[in-house]
Amino acid sequence: MSRRLWTRSILVLAVIIMTSCLADAEAGSFIKVPKKKYKGPGTTANLKSIIIGRCYHYMSLYPAIGMKDCSRIWQELTEAVFRKDPCNITEEDYKKLGEVAAQTIPCDKSLLWSRTNQLVHRYTKATEDFMTLEDTFLGFLFNGLTWCGKPVTPGMNYNSCPAWNECSNNSLLSFWKIASAMFAQTSCGIVNVMLNGSADGAIARKESILRTVEIPRMNPDKVSEVRLWVIDDIHGQDKNSCNSESLLELQQYIEEHNLNYSCIDNYKPVQALQCVENPDHHACNQCSRP
Ligand code: APR
Repeated sequence: MSRRLWTRSILVLAVIIMTSCLADAEAGSFIKVPKKKYKGPGTTANLKSIIIGRCYHYMSLYPAIGMKDCSRIWQELTEAVFRKDPCNITEEDYKKLGEVAAQTIPCDKSLLWSRTNQLVHRYTKATEDFMTLEDTFLGFLFNGLTWCGKPVTPGMNYNSCPAWNECSNNSLLSFWKIASAMFAQTSCGIVNVMLNGSADGAIARKESILRTVEIPRMNPDKVSEVRLWVIDDIHGQDKNSCNSESLLELQQYIEEHNLNYSCIDNYKPVQALQCVENPDHHACNQCSRP
């Protein structure tokens, strides 16, 4: 091999080695670990301020609850989820948070619900005779908010969080499960449940919190009766009522948990609220009522 050819070969080899080294260096410094993207929205902006603000607001609305340590509540939330995998948060992780936010629920005041999220809360706002989970201290603090951690800085994921059913131990589902369990467990006397008589399918989904968490956690020694209210949408159809198959099945499920059962179709006080909102509807005309 001539000297010139030899030098050229060495040069080509050097260029190849350098290019490959540069590529490696680039890979090391520029290729980013792909971010995990969950299906739900990320942690609510200003979460801490919202929770602490709601905490003081609740105490001013309901002084009977006594003094709660609002900073501690925030601290217990972060202990539960901060820097953690949001698909690996259990009900146990929220146990301390549940303890610091504990509240006594007066007997006969609990109002559970399934598939009536909007109506039930319009109703409790209007009457204040009953309390849903979202009207309790713990539910009020977190209702409508999203939060989840991530193992790297800043410790909370503001881009995305697991959606309701994305993984079984996700930070939101586990929280609402333990909050619902505590609410049902501390309920006493008559426990009312608002259901949707106009919705398609089962009156309460098999996987609903009502069936899977709340009914099993009620204490038959403290709960005298589970009273179902089957409410039809004022503009909707009457798809389910107390004697429908779906209701009879739910009755059986409630009784299997040693709880007494009763059922009311279109409970009048709720119908009255629907009529306030729809005064011209024919169902609201006293004269046309049977
Ligand atoms: N995807 C997204 N969100 C869901 C899903 C889902 N698959 N399932 C439930 N949710 C959320 C929604 O925010 C919905 O409004 O839970 C809410 C209630 O679902 P429902 O089937 O209407 O009712 P249920 O599961 O029985 O939960 C209501 O639990 O929160 C407690 O005390 C409360 O008694 C009430 C019960």
